[in-house]
Amino acid sequence: MKTHTRTFLLFVLLAVITNTVSAGKMNMSISHLGNRQSMIRLDSPANYLLLPVEESSQESTMSMIVDNRMVKTFTVRLAVTKIDYFVPVDLTGFAETNVLFHIHPVDDNAVCWKEIKMSDTFDAENREKFRPVYHFSPPWGWMNDPNGMVYKDGVYHLFYQYNPYGSKWGNMHWGHATTTDLVSWKHQPVAIEPDALGTIFSGSAVVDHDNTAGFGAGAIVAFYTSAGKTQTQSMAYSLDNGKTFIKYDRNPILVSDVPDFRDPKVIRHKESGKWIMVLAVGQEMQFYSSTDLKNWTYESSFGDGEGAHAGVWECPDLIELPVRGTNTKKWVLLCNINPGGPFGGSATQYFTGSFDGKTFTNESPGRTKWMDWGKDHYATVTWSNAPDNRTVALAWMSNWEYANDVPTKQFRSANSVPRDLQLYTKNGQTYLSSIPSPELLKLRETAQKKGSFRVNDTYEVDPVLANNTGTYEIEIKLQNKDADIIGFRLYNSKGEEVDMFYNLFDNTFSMDRRNSGQVNFSKSFATVTSAPVSGEKEYTLRLFIDKCSLEAFDGKGEFVMTNLVFPVEPYSRMCFYAKGGSYTVTSLTVYPLSLK
Ligand code: FRU
Repeated sequence: MKTHTRTFLLFVLLAVITNTVSAGKMNMSISHLGNRQSMIRLDSPANYLLLPVEESSQESTMSMIVDNRMVKTFTVRLAVTKIDYFVPVDLTGFAETNVLFHIHPVDDNAVCWKEIKMSDTFDAENREKFRPVYHFSPPWGWMNDPNGMVYKDGVYHLFYQYNPYGSKWGNMHWGHATTTDLVSWKHQPVAIEPDALGTIFSGSAVVDHDNTAGFGAGAIVAFYTSAGKTQTQSMAYSLDNGKTFIKYDRNPILVSDVPDFRDPKVIRHKESGKWIMVLAVGQEMQFYSSTDLKNWTYESSFGDGEGAHAGVWECPDLIELPVRGTNTKKWVLLCNINPGGPFGGSATQYFTGSFDGKTFTNESPGRTKWMDWGKDHYATVTWSNAPDNRTVALAWMSNWEYANDVPTKQFRSANSVPRDLQLYTKNGQTYLSSIPSPELLKLRETAQKKGSFRVNDTYEVDPVLANNTGTYEIEIKLQNKDADIIGFRLYNSKGEEVDMFYNLFDNTFSMDRRNSGQVNFSKSFATVTSAPVSGEKEYTLRLFIDKCSLEAFDGKGEFVMTNLVFPVEPYSRMCFYAKGGSYTVTSLTVYPLSLK
């Protein structure tokens, strides 16, 4: 064959297997290599490579290679038949180079190959109808546990379990957001990325005021689980107030042969002058101590025969709280458990008692105490170094039974509203009290008030919630006369409703979301959740509604119930009903809520 014929054939062949796109100086070429492997070459790339995702596709592995070195590797569900949404790969910093991606396994005829594109911008507009307004949710992609919550110099930092490459769990990074008022959030760049030790699982952060670690006084020091083939604990520090983190060069700092070994929570224990790390290890919590945050000594374990054990223990927290109405304080060990929650799947249990710097002692053996009586309250932890002696908690508002399947797309999951924690005593037992953080009051707009009214059968308060956008707070004050059931429903014109009722026979408050809207995405979603309540003549309740969630707070802080709901349109009406007698709604106030 003549050289020029050969060259021509080679050219044709290359044109067939290579799809070349040029935009200005940017150039992208895709080559298929057989065995469902492909490569993408980018010359002088734009800021982002936009990847089309199809959630039902299989995960493929995508490795980013620059100058023959692996920069990162992650999994992504590239679109095979249709595109659900795009996710960006950040290429800023590589504009002057050429970047190669190796991808496997994806079919050569998958739709993604025609749709992958470079762009200098990525549209993360907040436009899905279930996107909450005053609850934190990630800019795009998947979120689970709150991590590394720390307050410093007027700023509350929230890090979180984050997958930037899709709205299902995977590729765990620490996402980052900040707030000064606990309700309006600013997205920050990803704080900690996976590395050779593994992906970045849950953990905590502290401010090292006294430079005990030697990174500098005031450094923010973060602890996380490196989830590689095994789980080990690692640390990273920030010398610029949480903007960027430097990983400690002697990671990991703690290893074990137990497979579930994770979620380090570090606190300062004043009495012993030591740092304490609590770790979730299988179905127990282990306590370690340190003076320099780097070297840790095992102190004790807690858990055998204590509380609920139907699943692994995860995401611990250890806090000291005042007991309301007394001068005493007690220690509380938060212990998230999955599965094994009271309504299936994930939930937060806790233990009250004492901690002497080495050992936690449960003051109520044989009892299981739940922090929240809904189905969507997990991985609860508190802010380190919070001002004014406050203890402020945040939960991930979902449940591992269906978290990956809830009907949102471009983002998945939100956190609870922030809650200030205290302890209270009832019938000789000490319980956790969760109160909506006072910052939430700032969201209230002009109230729509309804006067007091007596409820015998059904009383429609119409249209008390008309024209709402699905973001409001309802405050209800009730006085019972002789009803057995004090009930009320939120509903919309599609007949979707959430039914809530106090049952005065067994002293419970329940929320029934079986007919609340979209419920069929999981067999475990359509449920009724119930909390024990005191038998009283008067009740106050604050309900927080934000597009896809409903949090019910008892006015005295004795119970809270957090549940997701996915109504086709926002609930716009309310009705009250009684069974077995009557009661009075002494006051009903609806506050539209918005970020100012
Ligand atoms: C809890 C959890 C943690 C783990 C993280 C991984 O929801 O399972 O134990 O660190 O999620 O994303």
